[in-house]
Order: sequence, then structure tokens, then C-alpha cells
Amino acid sequence: MSNVMNRREFLKRGGALVAVGSLPFSLVEIAFGKGSAEDFTFAYISDSHITHLKGNQFVRNWDRGLIRAVAEANLLDPRPDFFFYGGDIAQLGKREEIDHGLEILAGLRGDVHYVMGEHDYYLDLGEYWREKLGPDHYSFDHKGVHFVVLNSILTYDDWTYHKWDSDMARMQQMARLDNPQGSPFMVGDAQRAWLAQDLAGVDKDTPVVVFSHSPLQKIYKGWNFWTEDAEQVQALLQSFRKVNVLYGHVHQIQTNQIGNISFNAAMATAWPWPYPATYKQAESFLPKLTVEMNRADPFFERDATGWQFINLHTGDVEVEYILPDNQNRTVAFDPEAGHPVDKQFQAAADRIPPQTHY
Ligand SMILES: [Fe+2]
Ligand SMILES: [Fe+2]
Repeated sequence: MSNVMNRREFLKRGGALVAVGSLPFSLVEIAFGKGSAEDFTFAYISDSHITHLKGNQFVRNWDRGLIRAVAEANLLDPRPDFFFYGGDIAQLGKREEIDHGLEILAGLRGDVHYVMGEHDYYLDLGEYWREKLGPDHYSFDHKGVHFVVLNSILTYDDWTYHKWDSDMARMQQMARLDNPQGSPFMVGDAQRAWLAQDLAGVDKDTPVVVFSHSPLQKIYKGWNFWTEDAEQVQALLQSFRKVNVLYGHVHQIQTNQIGNISFNAAMATAWPWPYPATYKQAESFLPKLTVEMNRADPFFERDATGWQFINLHTGDVEVEYILPDNQNRTVAFDPEAGHPVDKQFQAAADRIPPQTHY
């Protein structure tokens, strides 16, 4: 029996014994069934790509982006219950990069949960990251919400183990965005079996939030905005009343809804990726719900980078994108529409068109 079930059982049985007049209203709602989850917030920082040059020198811009996000996240009011880091601490998986990134992140005042990015993984297959941070997939419960962390950046064994002369050659191939030598990401059989088992103990009414690095959906394979076994992972999540997937990796705002699963991407603190359509002169690969950013002005080094403040309203996610040198954006689940919407720019006429790169 999960902690959530224990808690719900406690509230169901114990709540009725306590004089209702002595309980705060929100607790009364929980005890008497309006919803099982409480409102709370957490902050989400992602994709810092700390890059080691030599000795104790690192690329300044990527350091500055992370330092700023940590400083701002520490000033949030209300205080977030915890912090989440969405992967790609390092650029080339080096120990110096992971150490330097974690030193900056150690400034966060509160617990931090981490997900593995491909830039953290493909040098030593995650060995140093796991040594510092623990398992790459796990779950935990918080105030009536079940959180799941997955390592979604694995790929086929042939590519990982039998193709490259050195670990760094493998890392450098996977570090490129537009690389036909790359290989699609996946969660893989072992973790999907673990996920099925983990979810078997969770009540179907419990809100579920999944953290992954790559999108748990198929957006654009050419850039690995992709997870090969996305449909199989989604199938394990579809029987729950409400599921949110939060992912990094794409360094841009993306929004989608597939069945009961809402998807929200995170900004990077390091640099923005262009949207595939604006760069490739190809038909848009993005989900229709996505409101693209107007971006990025090369004269503002922090434009189209940022981090997120996330409000969980009894399981409905509201993402406030904190965007230095750009206007903040809020994407929130709209119960009437049945999917997340951009609070200001969802209507086509209200949008600021993205720049094109050709
Ligand atoms: Fe990244
Ligand atoms: Fe990534």
C-alpha cells in the first residue's frame, strides 16, 4: 500500500473523528472528498549544459544562466515545496561539469530531485551522475500526488555499446542536435516493467506527475525530440484520472494533451533551440496546442532561456515560465477545454510570430 493510500485511509477514517470546526477549510475538503491532493508549488530548472574549458574554467554564459535561476528560485513566495532539475547538467558528461553544476545547484534552499539527461549519460553511461545523485528512476509521494522520475534517454544497445571507438566519441555524437549518426531515445523494457509495477500500487484517482528528460511523445525524430517507446509508456498512464508529464531537453515551450495526459516542456537555462519548423523550413512537427515563443534575439544572451515555477492545483499543472529578457508566460490546464492553454497567447490573433532562421 502506498503512502498516498495510507494517507487517504487515515483521512477517510480519522478525519471524521475530528471536530470539523477545528480544521482549516482546505483540510475539510480533503477529508470529505473534494479531491485527494493539496495545492502546492515547486520550481523546475533544466538544461544548464555546464561546459568545462580547462582547469577551473567553464563557459561563462551557461554558468550565469544556472546561477540566476538558483538565485531567483530561492526568492519565490510562496516557498516551493521542493526543486526539480530536468537533466543535462553537463555538456559532455565530464566529472568537472557535473561537479560544477551541482555546486551551483547546492545553493537551492530545499530538496532537489534530478532526472538524467543524455549529456549527463553518454560519456560513462551515467556512472558518475548516479554516484552523486542516486538512482535514475524512482517514485515518491507528496501531498496526495504520485511523482515518477524516469530515465528516458536510453537507446538501442548496439548503438551504445558496439559503435564507437571511445566513450567521448559516443558522447559527442549524442550531444549534437541535428545528427543522422544519433539514435532515438527510449525508456526501455526494464523501466517500463518497473513503472507498471510502481503504478499498480497507486489509486486511479491519485494525480500522477511524470518527470522525464526527453518528451514522452513523438515530436521530431531528426532532432531526437522523441521517445521511441512513447506510446507504450503513455499506455501505462492512461488509466489514471489525471497525469502530467514535465520534460526538459527541447529548450523551448511545448504544450500537448494526449488522452488524459498533459505535456509541458521546460526552458533551458543555457540556450534556446529553434522550433523545427522555423529552422528546417518543414511543416511544423509540434503539437497544435503549442504556442511558439517569439525568439530569439541574438543580442540578448538570455533571451529565450529561462526556468519554471509550477503550481499544482489538486493535480492540474500551471507552469509559469520565468523568461529573463522576455515576457513571462503562463501555461495552465483548463478544465473546460480539457487541455493546457497559454493564458495570454493561445488565440492565434494574440500571438507574436516566431522569428524564422532562413
Ligand atoms: Fe539540453
Ligand atoms: Fe537533452
